[in-house]
Amino acid sequence: MTGIRPLVAGNWKMNGLGSSLAELASLRNRLEAAPVPETDIMVCPPATLLSRAREIVDGSSIMIGAQDCHPLPSGAHTGDISAEMLADAGATAVIVGHSERRTDHGESDTLVQAKALAAYRAGLMAIVCIGETEAHYRDGKTLDILRTQLEGSVPEGARATNTVIAYEPVWAIGSGLTPTPQEVAQVHGLIRTVLGQMLGDAEAGGTRILYGGSVKPSNAAELLFVPEVNGALVGGASLKAVDFYEILSVYAGTRS
Ligand code: 13P
Repeated sequence: MTGIRPLVAGNWKMNGLGSSLAELASLRNRLEAAPVPETDIMVCPPATLLSRAREIVDGSSIMIGAQDCHPLPSGAHTGDISAEMLADAGATAVIVGHSERRTDHGESDTLVQAKALAAYRAGLMAIVCIGETEAHYRDGKTLDILRTQLEGSVPEGARATNTVIAYEPVWAIGSGLTPTPQEVAQVHGLIRTVLGQMLGDAEAGGTRILYGGSVKPSNAAELLFVPEVNGALVGGASLKAVDFYEILSVYAGTRS
């Protein structure tokens, strides 16, 4: 154990209608019946559900995060949502630079960095996603790519208290494939080293580095107890309370 409080965040992506909030209520009930101590727990529903989700988790240990934000606080940007609006709707964090946004919307490291700065401006924690493609992985370029993404996406003012890094290999997302624990350990070690060079060892040492990509109940313990892994960003398996609870409960009973 590194002494860093882990974070397990569920990214619902473009899934969830009002009726899906029953899963959030079920997660809340499960955590009330059997809490998972000293672990931060977050659910990131689509923006349409943020305020209703916040009402459901109020008074519980579950935090609400958003999935993306615009860099600016307001203005003529039809369809976009600012970090301030997310905070106003009840979010305390926002995912930025998810590979699906980098791919679907052509988001660059520079834009991701601007979004992280917008998160700080609005008082939100930024969950900055990085990850290599399958081609990069095959060509042995993983570490180079991640260094470039970190240097381009993480703002200078990032601190352990306002920034979380999520390492999500693109080829592992939704595929059922995962890197080996040894590969995850190597990559997370590299990420912390690069963060140390960027932010100083004190901030880097306290920054949570999550693993994401096909985390499910059956592999959660194997992936989450890898050295330098401080939690998970969970996609598909976060949609069902029973599965998400099972994943985050790997931390139950691991600390005094
Ligand atoms: P899956 O857990 O569905 O592979 O998704 C991971 C992810 O992209 C979380 O942000």
